[in-house]
Amino acid sequence: MKRVTAEAVRRAWPEEVAPWVEALCEAGDALEIGLHLVGGPVRDFLLDRGVRDIDLIAEARGGEGGVTDKSTAETVARKAALPGVRVVVHRRFGTVRLSKGSVSVDVASVRSETYASPGALPTVEAGQLEQDLTRRDFTVNALALPLNAVASRGRSALIDPGRGLDDLRDGVLRVFHPRSFHDDPTRALRAARFAARLGFGLARGSRNTLRAALRDGAFGAVTGERYRAELEKLFLDPRHGLDPARAIRFLSETHVLAALEPGLGLPPSARGPLRRLGRDLGDPALGLAAESPWIAGLRLWLAPLDVALRRRVLRRFAVRGAAARAINGHAKEAERVLARLARARGRGSIDALVRELPDETLLALAAEAPTPLRRRLLRWIKEDRRVQLPISGRDLVELGLEGPAVGRALARIRVGVLDGDIKDRDEALALAREVGARSTGKRARGPGGRSGPARGRGGG
Ligand code: CTP
Repeated sequence: MKRVTAEAVRRAWPEEVAPWVEALCEAGDALEIGLHLVGGPVRDFLLDRGVRDIDLIAEARGGEGGVTDKSTAETVARKAALPGVRVVVHRRFGTVRLSKGSVSVDVASVRSETYASPGALPTVEAGQLEQDLTRRDFTVNALALPLNAVASRGRSALIDPGRGLDDLRDGVLRVFHPRSFHDDPTRALRAARFAARLGFGLARGSRNTLRAALRDGAFGAVTGERYRAELEKLFLDPRHGLDPARAIRFLSETHVLAALEPGLGLPPSARGPLRRLGRDLGDPALGLAAESPWIAGLRLWLAPLDVALRRRVLRRFAVRGAAARAINGHAKEAERVLARLARARGRGSIDALVRELPDETLLALAAEAPTPLRRRLLRWIKEDRRVQLPISGRDLVELGLEGPAVGRALARIRVGVLDGDIKDRDEALALAREVGARSTGKRARGPGGRSGPARGRGGG
């Protein structure tokens, strides 16, 4: 395992945010506010998995910064006064998000409200940070690394109230107290996610804690929206190496799924497709921008279930509207598209068949298609979908095409390019003229011989 020093972690985080964190640290030192890197980034740094999101906690240690309250994070962020950086304050939570473009840093005030004990400030002060850490989900997520001089004062290089470092080394997820899953049953889904992403197991005592929460019916008290939010995160994590089949198997084996909806499990026929979906989601060569990969995941996971159970599961996860319709209709859609894909001749006709499908649908289809069809889909995703035509719609308008004829000509040219029949701009223009002439001919034969855009759907 890596040696932990603030210097080493500074070298690991994204270049863009380094000056922000430095400015926050300096501002904190001036105000007697300590800044710590906390949670996920410390864990990932120690596991050598790269540091992505920067989560900081701010802790006032007397002086101008006063006692930690919900304004501590804001105070330090305002003092740092970073030009061009957007600062969004959530007063209710005592948090601040600094951002510029797609880069962001979160700063939370050490949560002390529930634990504030007037009259015992000096001891409680250190305890406040500890309490903030020990109210978290797993010991490996409760590590804090003091970053500035004020945070480091009287502290070790790594603050580790739950022996999280040992658990990181042993690959173990361990909760802090026996009511952890009662307090927050969604932690079971987080456990599944971290277990699958990091290859960790749930400590034996924590399994008992989970069992007790299941036995006591704690999972029934949580809304579907919160579970769905966790599933959404789960299907985003293949980008960081998570196998969704493994995460869902964890939830099935620990009886969490049955507690969420009686009868729900991981159908054996969904395992392979989910594993392939995970690989595809994590494959940068596919360059897919699926915004809602969870929809692809639920299509594959729930397709083998009987209709009534699937509907109940979707209700339990608060999945409604278009997403619910897509998931419910998956088996039929897959059968129809894959049958046509098997019959398609040439890359142009494959393109015409799948072009309009959302990424989520494509991903689900590719994950469950038999190998030859999977290859066709992946080739289309990697290569054909990005093919640029040698002419644009504007060229066609200049040629005199109008209305639906433009779209028709572009579609024909696309097929020609993908099938290798059209090699350059001249050949594309020639085909466009042909389509244009045909549609003009049709218009001439139209009712009353009127010219103008063809009505209805023409051939071509
Ligand atoms: N946390 C918790 N219980 C939850 C959600 C979050 O205790 N139900 C705590 C965890 O200790 C976590 C921290 O809040 O470290 C921040 O949450 P989040 O950003 O979701 O966790 P990360 O560990 O940063 O997850 P990821 O690596 O996926 O971003």
